[in-house]
Amino acid sequence: MIESHKLRCTGCATEISGPNAPSDFRCPLCKNLYEVIYPWSIKGTQKEGVAAASLPNASALRWLWQERRTSTMPVDQSGVWRFRDLLPIVTDMNKVTTLREGNTPLYELPKSAKALGLHWVLAKHQGMNPTGSFKDTGMTAALSVAVERGFEWVACASTGNTSAAMAAYAARAGLRSIVFIPEGKIAWGKLSQSMDYGALTVQLKTDFDGCVRLVNELVRAYPIYLLNSVNPYRLEGQKTPAFELLEQLEWQVPEHVIAPGGNLANASALAKGFAEAHQLGLIPRIPKISIIQAQDANPLYTFMHQPGGTDGRELIPVTAETRASAIRIGNPASWRKAVNALQTTGGWCEEVTEQEIALAKAQIGAEGIGCEPASAVTLAGLKKLVADGRVKEKDRAVLILTGHTLKDSDYTIQYHRNELFTNQETAALTPEEAAQHTHLRKPPIVLEANRETVLSALEAQMKA
Ligand SMILES: Cc1ncc(COP(=O)(O)O)c(C=O)c1O
Ligand SMILES: [Zn+2]
Repeated sequence: MIESHKLRCTGCATEISGPNAPSDFRCPLCKNLYEVIYPWSIKGTQKEGVAAASLPNASALRWLWQERRTSTMPVDQSGVWRFRDLLPIVTDMNKVTTLREGNTPLYELPKSAKALGLHWVLAKHQGMNPTGSFKDTGMTAALSVAVERGFEWVACASTGNTSAAMAAYAARAGLRSIVFIPEGKIAWGKLSQSMDYGALTVQLKTDFDGCVRLVNELVRAYPIYLLNSVNPYRLEGQKTPAFELLEQLEWQVPEHVIAPGGNLANASALAKGFAEAHQLGLIPRIPKISIIQAQDANPLYTFMHQPGGTDGRELIPVTAETRASAIRIGNPASWRKAVNALQTTGGWCEEVTEQEIALAKAQIGAEGIGCEPASAVTLAGLKKLVADGRVKEKDRAVLILTGHTLKDSDYTIQYHRNELFTNQETAALTPEEAAQHTHLRKPPIVLEANRETVLSALEAQMKA
């Protein structure tokens, strides 16, 4: 039987068949991660001829993907599997577990665009997925592979969103799931999800990087399928928002796509999606993909900006600290893939402070959209790219909002009550920034429940 895909090591280029992947998804020869390859995605080999014969042409694909929108079949209604022609990783479509993920909105952010002097800023809101984050697009893909390969248990280490997604998809598929999360370091909304969906939730007295170490031990010891983003099938699902975004833009390619950077898989998944769309002739060029990290969780930023360049160097892990808990990751597994995404697309890596993240989050909220703190780094980063001319007035920039605002409502409440920043952080604000925060903060007003008090208090507010 001809295999639909293979896994290729991103370090030494060794190819293996999917079911032969080691349990930790690291190449036994060089310890690098794998990527999924298809006959048509291998450039410069004799297999290209096979590809041309076996794959519909670009306009046929566009038409087919649109047609599937009107279908009642679950796999057609999924915003991931609708594009299944470009991710043939599951042989039997009946084995697919879908919550109708994807199909997320693309919003304009007119206030942010105006403030930045840009014609338009767009937000692809991946927080509008079934469990509230972009992880669903990857989870439907990798979980479906786990089902097809006969696994009964799945596991992940998580800063909260992966575990929420994995728990939900495992429950739908009738699989058991084990979650390792750092105790006290994830948002309550996310913790509640993994319990709600019935995962075995283990809070470890360590950070995310410590959880990763232990989940690797677990999958080496038992036949448990690892669903962290080192699993290359996750990235096949996570590349599909690139297709959906292009479709929403009527196949006009934006100049910039800006994503948050944590474990650094998502930006590379999007880059893979755009690269494949380009290779198949769906688009004439690819957007620049930029990655934004929190300043105290910035190993990629530090790596990219080291004196003497990046060639032959290894990323140095850091101890990560940020209130954007989803990206509090010091030893990112997919850093090499992210470097490749930056270099092949021509994008940049930036870092932003806690105050910049909070301001950007409040601004996205004030557009009536909202997102979780980690997602807001994208707008904070865009401001830097605009300030030094890397993003120009007429460029179209798309922010990838990775998580829903309700994921971390504690953060939002603390911000609006002016309880988020330390005194030192407040003191570091410029008068202009302090005024912006004051303008955006909308703390609840507590009043006695009588007519005079309510009307006079509101009258004062309406005049303000
Ligand atoms: C909301 C949110 N944004 C961004 C990220 C970072 O994505 P990646 O780990 O693929 O860099 C995560 C990952 O945990 C997340 O949950
Ligand atoms: Zn290798």
